[in-house]
Amino acid sequence: MSKFKLAIILASLIMADSALAGEKEIAERIRKVGDVCIEGEDCGQAATPMTIAATGGSVEDNYNKSCATCHNAGIAGAPKMGDAADWESRIGKGMDTLYNSAINGMPPAMPQKGMCFSCSDEDLKALVDYMVESVH
Ligand code: HEC
Repeated sequence: MSKFKLAIILASLIMADSALAGEKEIAERIRKVGDVCIEGEDCGQAATPMTIAATGGSVEDNYNKSCATCHNAGIAGAPKMGDAADWESRIGKGMDTLYNSAINGMPPAMPQKGMCFSCSDEDLKALVDYMVESVH
C-alpha cells in the first residue's frame, strides 16, 4: 500500500468519526429541546423545565386536574359540567364523536387530550362518560 493511499484511508476515517460525533451532538441538542419529562420518570440530568404532571389517577382526579379548569366555568364556550342545556346538542352528535373530540381536540379552544397528556384513550373516554353522566 502506498503512503498516499494510507493517507486517504486515514483521512476518511477521521472524517467519518467527526461526522458521527456531529450527528450525536445534533441528536443531543434536539433531545434537549424536544424532551418532555413525565413526572415520576427518571429524567436524568437534562431535566427540562417542562414537566407534565402524570395523573394516572381516578376519573375524578383526572377531571379535576385537566378538564375542570375549562369545563367547570364554561371557559371559551366549553360545555359546563352538570349543565344539561350545554350538553344536549353535544350528546346528540353521538358518544363516538365526543370521544374523538376529547382524544384529538376540537380546534380552536378544546385542546388535544383535554390537556391530560398522561391519559390514555380509555382514560379520556371515561372522562367523557363522566361529564355526560353529570347531566343524566
Ligand atoms: C383549555 C380549556 C379546555 C380544557 C382544559 C378541556 N376542554 Fe373540553 N372543551 C373546551 C371547549 C372550549 C370546548 C367547546 C369546543 C367547541 O365547541 O368548539 C370543549 C368541548 C369538549 C367536549 C365536547 C366535544 C364535542 O364534540 O362537542 C368534550 C367531550 C370535552 N371538551 C372533553 C374534555 C375532557 C375530557 C377534558 C379533560 C381531559 C377537557 N375537555 C379539557 C375546552 C377545554
